[in-house]
Amino acid sequence: MTDWPIHGAIAGPIVMIGFGSIGKGTLPLIERHFKYDRKRVVVIDPDDGDRALLDSSGVKFLHLAVTRENFRDVLGPLLAEGEGQGFCVNLSVDTSSLAIMEYCREIGALYIDTVVEPWPGFYFDKSLGPDARTNYALRETVLAARRANPGGVTAVSCCGANPGMVSWFVKQALVNLAADLGDKAIEPKSREDWSRLARRLGVKGIHIAERDTQRAKKPKPIDVFVNTWSVEGFLSEGLQPAELGWGTHENWKPANAGAHSKGCGAAIYLNQPGANTRVRSWCPTPGAQFGFLVTHNESISIADYLTVRDESGKAVYRPTCHYAYHPANDAVLSLHEMFGRAGRMQEEHHILGEKEILDGVDELGVLLYGHGKNAYWYGSQLSIEETRRVAPNQNATGLQVTSAVLAGMVWALENPRSGIVEADEMDFRRCLEVQTPYLGPVVGVYTDWTPLTDRPGFFPEDIDETDPWQFRNILVR
Ligand SMILES: NC(=O)c1ccc[n+]([C@@H]2O[C@H](COP(=O)([O-])OP(=O)(O)OC[C@H]3O[C@@H](n4cnc5c(N)ncnc54)[C@H](O)[C@@H]3O)[C@@H](O)[C@H]2O)c1
Repeated sequence: MTDWPIHGAIAGPIVMIGFGSIGKGTLPLIERHFKYDRKRVVVIDPDDGDRALLDSSGVKFLHLAVTRENFRDVLGPLLAEGEGQGFCVNLSVDTSSLAIMEYCREIGALYIDTVVEPWPGFYFDKSLGPDARTNYALRETVLAARRANPGGVTAVSCCGANPGMVSWFVKQALVNLAADLGDKAIEPKSREDWSRLARRLGVKGIHIAERDTQRAKKPKPIDVFVNTWSVEGFLSEGLQPAELGWGTHENWKPANAGAHSKGCGAAIYLNQPGANTRVRSWCPTPGAQFGFLVTHNESISIADYLTVRDESGKAVYRPTCHYAYHPANDAVLSLHEMFGRAGRMQEEHHILGEKEILDGVDELGVLLYGHGKNAYWYGSQLSIEETRRVAPNQNATGLQVTSAVLAGMVWALENPRSGIVEADEMDFRRCLEVQTPYLGPVVGVYTDWTPLTDRPGFFPEDIDETDPWQFRNILVR
């Protein structure tokens, strides 16, 4: 496409926090799709390694870390400067999404992020129990802020690829599945309608099923953690407990599972790191594969959103929901190396830039399973070649995230007084309309695979043959 559409106007300053792999990819999409004043864009990052990209396009750069102590003093004047509503785009690690989001709402600026990030220290605080180190706990802080201050200026929480775009894919997949199963009801409008549709279709669970086949031109050196997006972000979440939205059809739980005594009650956690927890899943290109059950906000928000409750408030239907992530091969090797030495991290971290990648596709979708047509994968198959063709400064993994940030920003501008929202609550059609030109082929594929296919093999296994879609059969033990 050469005539890129302008989706809206940002009347005030744009403040981007963090200029890592996602920030570098998001900025050109902002420049391409919004009317805005270049002189009023500021990027903040304590690392000035990529500053040349900003200098060459005349964007201001503040070389500092946003901290618990300085965030009001730094962000306040920047976002309030001049006419028009400011927009804060938080794409950093080590800053509190909640604190910055609440402050932006207080001063009337729009806000978006891609993860509920805490101030530094949270992820690796051994004095916190596993329960307190979960994404469930982080998400509950955002839900509590919303309850305390409903409505008001829009702040979009967790709007990347996943969390983010995959919530829109779930809705599109439910609509497609309804049509294919002959469900004639009109398209859902409310949360209750969506949850009833998922129940009616018999969806037992949802994997966020991803296979990243992007290959580096140079093999991974020993003692370097290599990934296709934030190594810091991946290590933080990978060493949190594995977490999953817990479905009402499950009749078995791992012995090391923990439950939460407060909050929405939609999820459980396992007393083991997510990046060392394997599950059986399926993507179109590889077919059956292992994925890592890394904790993610969407595992909880999607399960929560699709819960049907009876009059007493008891959950009578909820799908199981979790990530099943096969990262790029170099990242798998990096995890193997790290867990082989009791989780001691590599000193050197490296994110593969688009120029360092030989070939490959990030295949990221949602696998809805357990219904009348067994299982349905719906998602994006974005190659590195297509990525290079449509957007600068990023690989395929990055573009799936940055185009979701773009869609979230468009939605926020069109819905500026919606309060704190999660991707599940946004207009999935509008968001996918903005995002789809950047996703490569977006396809829906049925499969007859189940986690019991070809099992047991040579050895006896503890499986439940009465229902292939039990977590007992999915979790690798
Ligand atoms: N939802 C999704 O699909 C998705 C996908 C990828 C990344 N993410 C999240 O997006 C964020 C950015 O990811 P990335 O791949 O660009 O990470 P990255 O590690 O490449 O970049 C993070 C940037 O934040 C900067 N930073 C660190 N501390 C800071 C501070 N105190 N103030 C301002 N900047 C600071 C770093 O210097 C770095 O440039 C991470 O939180 C990551 O978890 C979400």
